[in-house]
Amino acid sequence: MEQPFRMNNNGQISIVLNAQKRNAATKELPKSPPTEVKPKPTDHEALKEIEDELGTLVGMDEMKRMIKEIYAWIYVNKKREEKGLKAGRQALHMMFKGNPGTGKTTVARLIGKLFLKMNVLSKGHLIEAERADLVGEYIGHTAQKTRDLVKKALGGILFIDEAYSLGRGGEKDFGKEAIDTLVKHMEDKQHEFILILAGYSREMDYFLSLNPGLHSRFPLVVDFPDYTIDQLMDIGRRMLDEREYTLSHEAERKLREHLAWVKSSLGPTGFSNGRYIRNIIEKSIRAQAMRLLLDNQFERHELVTLRSNDLILNEG
Ligand SMILES: Nc1ncnc2c1ncn2[C@@H]1O[C@H](COP(=O)(O)OP(=O)(O)OP(=O)(O)O)[C@@H](O)[C@H]1O
Ligand SMILES: [Mg+2]
Repeated sequence: MEQPFRMNNNGQISIVLNAQKRNAATKELPKSPPTEVKPKPTDHEALKEIEDELGTLVGMDEMKRMIKEIYAWIYVNKKREEKGLKAGRQALHMMFKGNPGTGKTTVARLIGKLFLKMNVLSKGHLIEAERADLVGEYIGHTAQKTRDLVKKALGGILFIDEAYSLGRGGEKDFGKEAIDTLVKHMEDKQHEFILILAGYSREMDYFLSLNPGLHSRFPLVVDFPDYTIDQLMDIGRRMLDEREYTLSHEAERKLREHLAWVKSSLGPTGFSNGRYIRNIIEKSIRAQAMRLLLDNQFERHELVTLRSNDLILNEG
């Protein structure tokens, strides 16, 4: 299979691309008119695979567009290089802003996989960290801990959740040392790993206002909006599908009404979007199992159907 992108010499990142020319095949086919452009079925295979994976996520239009843009940019850079033009290199560090359960962790994991496919990353793994993983207890400890994490993330993604908490303690706090160390590494090793800082929108904006130098270092800022009721229902249906369950009509109506109520009664940061739906589904599946056991009902239709009484909706 033709690889659209290749590794550079140190095996890290392939934005500088070096695809082999494939003239050999055309030489062996003297009957083809020389001007005929042979379709290359594998050409955008990586993009197709990526689109399939992205297709499993509900909504997220901005993020999906961004990924395609990155793909196009890398691909065109390869073509430019083939023509002897300068191929750009650009850091791909990102900032994810969004409320709880809006899919930030899910997307970070997916981006690791996708960038591996696109040969932007050599490993594509995700190292998840939070304040406690970065910040140490004495002078120098933080820099060491942060450096170690970056090292583990090389070839993949370092994902720092609730990143704003690093800016929490002010000047004397070791969080500041962690930020400084991160900034240094994201420049020095900018093509060897991708740093993603994630957190709730308001806190991240505040964090950036405290660290004015940071903003420009993250060329890709992605907003993760709250889901609409329709999107939440869609996410729920996909989760159920995956587990081979479905909702009865009555259960579906009840869930929809409940979501509308919870979404309006909990504030925007109180509602945990996709995670909220997942919790309901998991609890309800257990409740259904109990009901079936008590009723001694094990027909196929019963095994797959969650009824309105199975829905456990008492969560705040
Ligand atoms: N667009 C989506 N399509 C399908 N499932 C989704 C989507 N967004 C979130 N989910 C599901 O919702 C759950 C929560 O998502 P995830 O953990 O990625 O959110 P998060 O933004 O990282 O949350 P937190 O800020 O609380 O860490 C997961 O089970 C995930 O699979
Ligand atoms: Mg998360």
